[in-house]
Amino acid sequence: MDISTNFMGRTIKSPVIAGSCGKTAEVGNIKLLEDKGVGAVILKSLFEEQISQEISNNMRLMQNAGEMAEAYSYIAEHTKHDNVDKYLNLIRQAKESTDIPIIASINCVSANEWIQFASAVEQAGADGLELNMFIMPTNINTSSEDVEQVYQDTIQIMRRSVSLPLSLKISSYSAALAKLCQKLSWMGIANLSIFNRFIEHDIDINEQTVKPVNILSSEDELYHTIRWTAILSKLVNCPLTAGGGVHKPEDIVKLLLAGANTVQVASALYTEGADFIENANNLLRQWMEEKKYHKINDFKGRLAIDKNDRASSFFRVQYMKYFSGIE
Ligand SMILES: Cc1cc2nc3c(=O)[nH]c(=O)nc-3n(C[C@H](O)[C@H](O)[C@H](O)COP(=O)(O)O)c2cc1C
Repeated sequence: MDISTNFMGRTIKSPVIAGSCGKTAEVGNIKLLEDKGVGAVILKSLFEEQISQEISNNMRLMQNAGEMAEAYSYIAEHTKHDNVDKYLNLIRQAKESTDIPIIASINCVSANEWIQFASAVEQAGADGLELNMFIMPTNINTSSEDVEQVYQDTIQIMRRSVSLPLSLKISSYSAALAKLCQKLSWMGIANLSIFNRFIEHDIDINEQTVKPVNILSSEDELYHTIRWTAILSKLVNCPLTAGGGVHKPEDIVKLLLAGANTVQVASALYTEGADFIENANNLLRQWMEEKKYHKINDFKGRLAIDKNDRASSFFRVQYMKYFSGIE
C-alpha cells in the first residue's frame, strides 16, 4: 500500500502531519515523530506577540533602571534577534537530524514584522513556511473587507519576500468563508490549512472570573473539520490540509475521503503520544488493503462536494425533524 502524497512541493511518505504545537518545538521530539512515520512537521509558531511582549518587558527593566531612551530601540532589536536566532537554530537542527520536510510557522496578524524573518527561515533550510493567521474578527471598526485584505496583503508581501512554498493556516471565523478560501487559494500559496484553533473560555460562577479551557481539542470538533474539508477541497486551487478534532486513527481516512491532501494532528500527540502517528499509518494501510485501494489518489475526495452540488448532506444544517431524529 502506497500512502505517500504530495505536500508543499515534496513527496511525503504519509499524509499525517504533526501540526504546530509544543510537540514540534524540540529536535528530540521531531526525530521521534519521524521514527513513528510522520509525513512532515510544522514547527511550533514563533508568535508576533511573544516577541513584542519580551521587548516590552526588557524595556520596562531599562526604564526602571533609568537608562537612556536611545537604548530602547537597541533592546527591542536585541530581544527580537535572540528569539529569532533560537528559532532559526531549531530549523537548522531539525533539518540536520531528519529527512522529512520541516515547515517553519509564524503567527502573524500582519505581514510587515516578518519579512526579514521569512528570508532568514529560508536560509536556515526550512522546506516551507506556514502563516498562522490568527484573526479573531472582534474589532467593531474593522469590516470583513478589511479582514480579507489583511489575508491578501500578507500572502502578497510574503510571496514577494521569499521563494519558499507558503501554507496559509486560516481560522473559520469569516463571513463568506468558502469564497474567501477560494480567493486566497488563487494567490500562489502551496497549501491551505484549515483551521487554526482558538483557546476557549469558561466562566467560574463562584469566583465570577473568566478562565481558559479546552487547551486540547475534543473529538466532536472533527465534524466541523469534515464538513469544511468536503466543502472546500474541490473549490480551492491548492492542496488542502485538514486539522482539528483528529483523535482516532480512522479520522485520517475520513478527512482524506472528504478531500484533504494531508491531515494535521496536534492534540492527539499530547493524549496518545507519538504512537498516534504509527497507529494512524497502520490503520490507513489496513483500510486501503480492505477496500482495495493502492494509493491515496484512488479514494481521496470521494466524499467531497462537487462544485455545483447544492444538495449534499453536508449543507443540511437545520434541526428539521427528519434529520435530528429526536423530536
Ligand atoms: C498545546 C498546543 C499548542 C499549539 N500551538 C500552536 C502554534 O504555536 N501555532 C499554531 O499554528 N497552532 C498551534 N496549535 C494549534 C494546532 O496546530 C492545531 O491547529 C489545533 O490544535 C487543532 O488540531 P488538533 O485538534 O489536532 O489539536 C496548538 C495546539 C495545541 C494543543
